[in-house]
Amino acid sequence: MATMESLIELVNRIQRACTVLGDYGGDGADLPTLWESLPSVAVVGGQSSGKSSVLESIVGRDFLPRGSGIVTRRPLVLQLHKTVKTESGNTEYGEFLHLPKRRFNDFSAVRREIQEETDRMTGKSKMISPIPIHLSIYSPNVVNLTLIDLPGLTKVAVDGQPESIVSDIENMVRSYVEKPNSIILAISPANQDIATSDAIKLAREVDPSGVRTFGVLTKLDLMDRGTNALDVLEGRAYRLQHPWVGIVNRSQADINKNVNMLAARNKERDYFLSSTEYGHLANKMGSEYLAKLLSKHLKLVINEKIPNIISLINKTIYELEREMNQIGAPVAVDAGAQLYTLLELCRAFDRIFKEHLDGGRPGGDR
Ligand code: GDP
Ligand code: NA
Ligand code: MG
Repeated sequence: MATMESLIELVNRIQRACTVLGDYGGDGADLPTLWESLPSVAVVGGQSSGKSSVLESIVGRDFLPRGSGIVTRRPLVLQLHKTVKTESGNTEYGEFLHLPKRRFNDFSAVRREIQEETDRMTGKSKMISPIPIHLSIYSPNVVNLTLIDLPGLTKVAVDGQPESIVSDIENMVRSYVEKPNSIILAISPANQDIATSDAIKLAREVDPSGVRTFGVLTKLDLMDRGTNALDVLEGRAYRLQHPWVGIVNRSQADINKNVNMLAARNKERDYFLSSTEYGHLANKMGSEYLAKLLSKHLKLVINEKIPNIISLINKTIYELEREMNQIGAPVAVDAGAQLYTLLELCRAFDRIFKEHLDGGRPGGDR
């Protein structure tokens, strides 16, 4: 439904505006509460379980630092904004919150900037920081989603890391997934026993009924010959409310050979279609299916929360209007413009809601 699609886009842009404003110091609108009322998807799993690879597959671009060991050392809040395809040139670009107005058309430069911005905060040490990096990607080929890449859960400290790093990472990850509006993308590798999965352990703790957890099984191609993951994929090993999705990401060898994302996606599709074990599940497997599943779920969640969101948005509109009317309100010029943007976005959300959805069943055509 077109209206639902525009509401989701507005949710995305409102989240972004809240982030840009951050702690703007105004005494009016409660922006953290507004941000937290809007859903986002947090990616959790053990180190090297394939989190960053899954994120890249969803985006369809190569842009994250990847490799063995602890690579993701700060949360990355990744906002995908679907743009309209145009005839001319490069419509696909990234933009960091800490580098406003600079467009990254080169995705390997995005990767370098994530690494450098991580190091700026943590030093070149293997330390972690809870302060997120915010990246927006604008592309005609993405679905409107907010995804959060998090440091990998680990069981032991290495290379001179303090012992506390194990619990520091776990606490940081938990602080994201314990929020009721957080959708959990729990990543487990198929070549390890699901009973030992760090992702499932944490998801079970914060979401015992499994209503907001999506189980993702990576590395199906790396399982021992003669074994398969049907017990997990068909929900017998660990039951969740949503179906499990199996994934085959690029291997390290593929990455070294520069196998591109499109080729990887085709390879993944062929893997399932030609598989004797998983052939019957082929249309419910793979990263493309996962992206669609998440987008559909997001619509459902936003739809359910619309009454709550709309009242918060109206409260925000009221508070922002009041704040802007105060002559000489103590907001910086920049913040003033941003507040105005946020106000306009909130008004647009309210208007679309009233024009199309009020009274009826929002998104009732699903
Ligand atoms: P993260 O630490 O959880 O973010 O994991 P990464 O995405 O960085 O992946 C860790 C390593 O596992 C990389 O070398 C990937 O190429 C490899 N990998 C991830 N998923 C798969 C998969 O489905 N199949 C294969 N063969 N390798 C994978
Ligand atoms: Na890694
Ligand atoms: Mg990673």
